[in-house]
Amino acid sequence: MTSAFHVSHAADDTLLVEFDVPGSKVNTLSRAVLAELAQHLSQLRDRDDLEGLIFRSRKPGQFIAGADLRELAQLPLATPKEIKELTSLGQSLFDQISKLPFPTIALIDGACMGGGTELVLAFDERIASSDGGTSIGLPETKLGILPGWGGTQRLPRLIGPPKAIEMICSGDPVDAATAAELGIVFDAVPSERLLDEGLRVLEMLRSSDEWKQRREERRGPIRLCPDAAAFMFATAEGGVLQKTKGQFPAPLAALGAIREGAQGDLDQGFAVERDAFLGLIESPIAANLMAIFFMDKRLQRDIGVDAEGVIPEKVSRVGVVGAGLMGSGIAAACARRGLPTTMVDVEEKALGAGLGRIQEVIASRIRIGRATPEDMASALALLSTSTTPANVAGSDVVIEAVVEREEVKRELYQRMKQHLGPNTILASNTSTIAISTLAESAPSPERFVGMHFFNPVDRMALVEVIRGKETSDQTVATIVALAKRIKKTPIVVRDCAGFLVNRVLFPYLSEAVLLWLEGAAMDDVDRCATSFGMPMGPFLLHDVVGLDTAFYASGVMNQAYPDRSVKLDVLADLVKAGHLGQKTGRGFRKHEGRKRKPSADAGVEAIRERHQLAQKSFAPEEMTDRLFLPMLLEATRALEEEIVREPGDVDMGLILGTGFPPTKGGILRWCDTVGAGEILARVERLEGLGKRFEPTDTLRELARTGGRFYPLPKRSG
Ligand code: NAI
Repeated sequence: MTSAFHVSHAADDTLLVEFDVPGSKVNTLSRAVLAELAQHLSQLRDRDDLEGLIFRSRKPGQFIAGADLRELAQLPLATPKEIKELTSLGQSLFDQISKLPFPTIALIDGACMGGGTELVLAFDERIASSDGGTSIGLPETKLGILPGWGGTQRLPRLIGPPKAIEMICSGDPVDAATAAELGIVFDAVPSERLLDEGLRVLEMLRSSDEWKQRREERRGPIRLCPDAAAFMFATAEGGVLQKTKGQFPAPLAALGAIREGAQGDLDQGFAVERDAFLGLIESPIAANLMAIFFMDKRLQRDIGVDAEGVIPEKVSRVGVVGAGLMGSGIAAACARRGLPTTMVDVEEKALGAGLGRIQEVIASRIRIGRATPEDMASALALLSTSTTPANVAGSDVVIEAVVEREEVKRELYQRMKQHLGPNTILASNTSTIAISTLAESAPSPERFVGMHFFNPVDRMALVEVIRGKETSDQTVATIVALAKRIKKTPIVVRDCAGFLVNRVLFPYLSEAVLLWLEGAAMDDVDRCATSFGMPMGPFLLHDVVGLDTAFYASGVMNQAYPDRSVKLDVLADLVKAGHLGQKTGRGFRKHEGRKRKPSADAGVEAIRERHQLAQKSFAPEEMTDRLFLPMLLEATRALEEEIVREPGDVDMGLILGTGFPPTKGGILRWCDTVGAGEILARVERLEGLGKRFEPTDTLRELARTGGRFYPLPKRSG
């Protein structure tokens, strides 16, 4: 390969090493690059003619994106020995930088992530460019691993354990100014001044021997007062556990490595780090989180259609019809991303309330530092409201979010025919009505599509893009591009009842209610789901969604999948008795204000008794199987019917749309982890309960062949 490092002189006695991975937009630290770096370093060790070294990237605004993630994703296949060798290789390679016989400086312009940050931590000093694109971080814990090339040991020795813990355990990067404040970099200066500043700081370092003493100090243990340290680490552990709810082991393992590593010298710290890294790589969680990273990348690149040469149309203005809960959320998402947006509703009052909600969403972001008052002003300046549907004329895309009644939507489309231009795309946010059915009333069925947002729109990233029978590729690609532009993750789904997410979620929700009718306690069922990793149990989810909405949607499922979807008359009775969920203060449980835990409701128990089935007792494992196996089976049916294009679409849809535990990598990946054979055996044990537990062809085939939804990558090298 052509060289990734270019060596020249920044001054007579100062070497300039520039990093530039050939043929790639970003610099990553692959094995090949590390091998080349090792060669350069071995030549530098004995250079007594040099007084300093400056390192930078040759790609303007692109520093180092980190380790090569494709190589990292292969690690779970490696043996423990190989894993330790790789961590050891990075640690000792970077350590050679910290032992060069002259001071070293890294100039950071652009994103400096993961292994890139670990590399620069081995330099005597770092200077960052203050241009907006610079960020420095160790995001490894987000991928279920920890910085394994010295990061957990060098960062606490540089900036102190508390700040290092915060950065490493959160995985969040910091900008150049914050990096300077924290002491990660010496200073932040405009990029054009970086080299001069580097030479100046180098000169300063050379003027005394202090840099040598500092190197020595940073090789030793971290001196901490034992009581204060015990308190600090205990508090940090509490904070991590609260954030991860005990589901994500990486931040805790990183914290452990920092704590243990602080007590010995740097080399002992490296050994601690290697062990901790290995422990994480050996669990399936790291592989699952890395897989999600790649699935997400694929969705970011996906244009939504398989045909080549489809170019999304330009969208300069959006219309939203219906200013209710969803419409206002959608309008806010568009305006916040710089799209001029017109929001229409038949009710003046609804427009006022919608605008109020939009302001509240942005205000709450301002309160937590995620938006500025200027963001509020510019979003509101792009928003206009009207009670006249004619005012959406001129929009390139009109998103309909009126009440969920087919006749209302059909009638609206008929009326809008005269206002929409021939090139306007009409998208419906319907959650249950078939897109191909609604398309019959749309001005142009090819330019009609589903765009299903999730509630609350400002927090839920998923958008299902539903293609009806006649929806054109061009329309799908344009809506996919629009969804990305407003920072959502679109997944293209073929038309079917429940689309993807609700179709797969409802069997789980219904099974929870059945378990309860068969004698399981609501709390026990909810606990099974949360222990599995769901963000909330199915009964609480019912109450959040609304029992009326759940009842209506389950009716749609009953009609569409009569052989296997459960008819729950108990829901009808609960709704009739006013148990609509959180919004009325009464659902499956009583809700008395946000601060109080939902409590049991005697009225609900009375209704249950009228519908109860033969009473049984359940072990937690049986409840877990009852909840998640119907979900898995429905997911395999959706794949068989080609509702989505890839297993990754199912898994990402569930993770983003239902909070399915990312640590499990999605329901299909969970099946792979447990093994299709084992899953089939568990399904067969429950088959007597009805069609919903009938094994699908896909599951049988995978079990027979020992196959997986995601074939294991082949070992390379
Ligand atoms: P909502 O009841 O809060 O708002 C509906 C709005 O549409 C009301 O402001 C109403 O005045 C207005 N409207 C009714 N007829 C109209 C017409 N002909 N022209 C203009 N405006 C009209 O309802 P929500 O919850 O916002 O739902 C809207 C759509 O989004 C429905 O299709 C629903 O199925 C779907 N959806 C709802 C989700 C939720 O969690 N609420 C989630 C995903 C989709």
